Amino acid sequence: MNDSIVEWATLVAEAELRSPLPRRWAHTRGVASRAAEVASAIGNDAALLVAAATLHDVGYAPRLALTGFHPLDGARFLRDKHGADERLVRLVANHSFALLEAEERGLREELTTEFPLLEQPLLVDALVYCDMTTTPDGGRTTAQDRVAEILSRYGDDSVVGRFIRRAAPEICASVERVEAAVAAQPR
Ligand SMILES: [Fe+2]
Repeated sequence: MNDSIVEWATLVAEAELRSPLPRRWAHTRGVASRAAEVASAIGNDAALLVAAATLHDVGYAPRLALTGFHPLDGARFLRDKHGADERLVRLVANHSFALLEAEERGLREELTTEFPLLEQPLLVDALVYCDMTTTPDGGRTTAQDRVAEILSRYGDDSVVGRFIRRAAPEICASVERVEAAVAAQPR
């Protein structure tokens, strides 16, 4: 694993999240730990996965929340302020089926034009897996419980509630594909 991109991602995420959003920072550290656990199934892009997991929610940082849609705000920040790796930026922009939430927010065009979905399905799935099996406090959970928790936090008829209900079957399918890839690893 190329650790330098992970070290850089940790410094950037910590600087943006730790003090203003400690719970989001705890979630971030949990997602990064999940990524390190499944990284061996990702091969050469293991460090990229861990870095993307570390930065996936950076767009929640209050000073970066320009549109209020955190995948887009975070990706633009990483692209424009840090000149970050293009694949890393595209992973952050599209994490956990952000495209479906972009549709709910009328931001589909902006997201797909600036940050096309990466054509590496297992890598994209792995970031879904890491995010959606981690609680808001950074603990371990199941995708089903995570979806239920998000629904109860935001409400059924909110933008996020509508998004997560549409995304739920896709999230579960991603998690299953990653679990299968991990199980197929030689021990
Ligand atoms: Fe997120």
